[in-house]
Amino acid sequence: MLIAPNEVQQVSNAMMNMLHDEEIEIVNSFHDAVLAKDIDKIDELFKVLQFDIEDHFTTEEDMMEESKFYAAQIHKAEHDTMRGKVKDIQADWDKNKDPAAVQEFLEGEFKKWIVLHVARWDAETAMHIGDNM
Ligand SMILES: [Fe+2]
Ligand SMILES: [Fe+2]
Repeated sequence: MLIAPNEVQQVSNAMMNMLHDEEIEIVNSFHDAVLAKDIDKIDELFKVLQFDIEDHFTTEEDMMEESKFYAAQIHKAEHDTMRGKVKDIQADWDKNKDPAAVQEFLEGEFKKWIVLHVARWDAETAMHIGDNM
């Protein structure tokens, strides 16, 4: 398991917690496929993960816009950085089909990023939005 459910903190908005739970579940399945070096499964779940990340980020960005969150641009910029990294690692995967490179990305950068991002930006955004969206 790449990320245990209690490693990503709960924030004060139910929708955001749901998005995070869903993403942890998908990224853990993806990580399992990477460890198993199951090329077809990695191909399949990479698309699922990318779709889910986009859904997660866009939903938060829409919520920030609607609630006029004061740091929406900075929060979105963090999403954009990760969007770029996922795109790069996906391009690298398509070319080299190297599970070790994906594993390194997931266990290092991605895991660290999601834990810190939720603690820093999502928690603050959720506090601003509250639990009514
Ligand atoms: Fe989030
Ligand atoms: Fe976020």
